[in-house]
Amino acid sequence: MSFFCAQFMLATSLINAADYEEVIILKTIFSGIQPSGTLTLGNYLGAMKQFVDLQEENHCYFCIVDEHAITVPQDRLKLRENIRSLAALYLASGIDPEKSTLFIQSEVAAHTQLGWMLQSISYIGELERMTQFKDKSAGKDAVSSSLLTYPPLMAADILLYKTDLVPVGDDQKQHLELTRNLAQRFNNKFNDIFTVPEVSIPKTGARIMSLQDPTKKMSKSDSNQKASIFMLDDEKKIEKKIKSAVTDSEGIVKFDKENKPGVSNLLAIYASCTGSSIAELESKYRDKGYGQFKQDTAEAVISVLKPLQARYYELIDSQELDDILDNGADKAEQAANKMLAKAKKAMGLGRVKKKPKK
Ligand code: TYM
Repeated sequence: MSFFCAQFMLATSLINAADYEEVIILKTIFSGIQPSGTLTLGNYLGAMKQFVDLQEENHCYFCIVDEHAITVPQDRLKLRENIRSLAALYLASGIDPEKSTLFIQSEVAAHTQLGWMLQSISYIGELERMTQFKDKSAGKDAVSSSLLTYPPLMAADILLYKTDLVPVGDDQKQHLELTRNLAQRFNNKFNDIFTVPEVSIPKTGARIMSLQDPTKKMSKSDSNQKASIFMLDDEKKIEKKIKSAVTDSEGIVKFDKENKPGVSNLLAIYASCTGSSIAELESKYRDKGYGQFKQDTAEAVISVLKPLQARYYELIDSQELDDILDNGADKAEQAANKMLAKAKKAMGLGRVKKKPKK
């Protein structure tokens, strides 16, 4: 081969490689949040914030998983309010209905239908091993059976949409592992129809901890109001909660989860709200003590939540919100019904209609 010929081949292969990198591969994303109380900063930083970034280059479904919320007792009117409030929060945090499908789980019947079918290939033992089930059922006299069968419903949510990637906080990793197992089990047993999804967990903010007990996850249902920052808390409340956050007596701003869980949690919050790295923040506050650090952390949180709250109050009573949810349910239903039909066929449910004899 001549020198020029070799150079030409090399040049074309480089061009092709570069072109290939330019191709944007659309992934399907699915995630859900329970309308089981006012969302916390943990929900926002661990989940919602990722959703907003991901919708730019992917095909996204975001769901208000109200059927998951009823696995523990709910007040009927409060649940209705929480469902609407969560929908408005999704949009206020930047979910764009032109780019993503936003819908309510109970408005798409295929979720519970496939959930039931996946229960039939789930083992009681593996469901009893789920940390969320153990935590939520501990010390309770009456535990609903749906609390145990929660994970196959979650798997159905995800598998109905040929989901490639599920963005969640750290606490959902175990449920995602089970979803992958159920998808593979179904594919091996019946027919290879489900995409086995990957999980996406953010580098910072994957597990925001309680401000009062930084060894515990920040949670919607914590009875101590000072432990969680809620997405609708006003500036004063946010400042007060961060100022009274439990730290330590060392006075050194350093990330060390084991020995300084309170300071490490505030660093994760600050970094996640501003996009700064933990190392940058450690050096910024090297000789400054906790007062200034807490003040600036509070300001970082406020600068994220304040604009979002303004949009929330515009949306909450609007017709626009209902239109978006109606449209979202229609779009989700179309996609979900196709996969449900495939799953029913694979399992042998229903019948194949006889063709009329001529
Ligand atoms: P839920 O409603 O408890 O939480 C919603 C999302 O918020 C994340 N999250 C956190 N992230 C960081 N720090 C925290 N303190 C924190 N608290 C909550 C959760 O990891 C989650 O991503 N089972 C799910 C809901 C669900 C779902 C799904 C999720 C139902 N079906 C399908 C994904 C795909 C749950 O209880 O999330």
